[in-house]
Amino acid sequence: MPKLFSGIQPTGDLHLGNYFGAITNWVDLQEEHDTVYSIVDLHAITSEYDPETLRESAVDLATDLIASGIDPEESILFIQSEVREHVELQWIFNTVTSYGDLTRMTQFKDKSEDRDFVSAGLFDYPVLQAADILLYKASRVPVGEDQIQHVELTRRIARKFNSRFGEFFPEPEPIVGKAARIMSTADPERKMSKSAHDKHAIGLMEDEDSIWEKIKSAVTDPGKAQGDEMSPGVANLFTLLELTAPESTIEDFREDHREGNLMYIDLKEAVYENLMSEIRPVQKKKKELMKNRSHVEDLLEEGKRKAKEIASGNMEEVRRMVGVGPKS
Ligand code: TYM
Repeated sequence: MPKLFSGIQPTGDLHLGNYFGAITNWVDLQEEHDTVYSIVDLHAITSEYDPETLRESAVDLATDLIASGIDPEESILFIQSEVREHVELQWIFNTVTSYGDLTRMTQFKDKSEDRDFVSAGLFDYPVLQAADILLYKASRVPVGEDQIQHVELTRRIARKFNSRFGEFFPEPEPIVGKAARIMSTADPERKMSKSAHDKHAIGLMEDEDSIWEKIKSAVTDPGKAQGDEMSPGVANLFTLLELTAPESTIEDFREDHREGNLMYIDLKEAVYENLMSEIRPVQKKKKELMKNRSHVEDLLEEGKRKAKEIASGNMEEVRRMVGVGPKS
């Protein structure tokens, strides 16, 4: 089966962008791939964070992922920092990564804007991401649109390594689902994101009233909808509807929009109702899992063991090819 890797940062709560942009895809791909999913805490520490709660957030995120349908029997689910080979491979990759390439990463440019302190870690972050993927020799990477550039860089790193040291790594392809870019309901010109203010993200585990408040106040456009033209806010509501509602409902709303009869409040209600039907069971499952947190810890321990087994084998080979490390 093809090998697949993806990761998510334990910063803030899982939001609808993560869920529809990545996690639902992770779940669907489990059956026909060898899947490795990681909670990437070493990525999270490149920005402001609280060391006291990081580990707890990582376990909490694992709980969310399992509640969303990641099956630790089918997939390897683990915390990145527990497999130290990630960092070792990152260093080796630093030597085959072009500095110029890193300066072109748009996410770095976005994230470093308006910050007093920009760490070298934030700059080098995509190299760690390449190490994450290639440590497991994964050839597929399910991500949202914002990560495609990092996967493309990973391909270049693999190519450079292979040409310098010999054929070893695959050149991975991103897999992007139909919800490649969910936008903020408060500002549909920017993507839904957990690092931005709370109002820019709808949490998967958020309570119903608060989700309704955010959908109800979603920015649409002044006046009535007309023809095929859609404002970004209305398009985003349609995206959310398409992800959760039956085909006939979607078609009815599309027709109303085409004919200029669409009432935004009706669209918002439909988005809310259909969304809740999709995520209510996930929220319920999470509550159940929370009753036995040590079970989730045990699953992560098992995930670490399996990840470590692959990582250490591949890393041994890499050390040999590069000519570093203990003589074995
Ligand atoms: P992170 O933690 O920011 O996001 C996790 C996943 O959610 C997707 N995503 C979105 N998709 C659609 N619309 C949105 N508004 C939205 N916001 C987030 C992201 O594209 C991502 O797939 N660098 C990565 C984590 C990472 C990783 C990896 C991913 C580390 N190593 C190796 C893949 C492979 C990140 O910060 O994702």
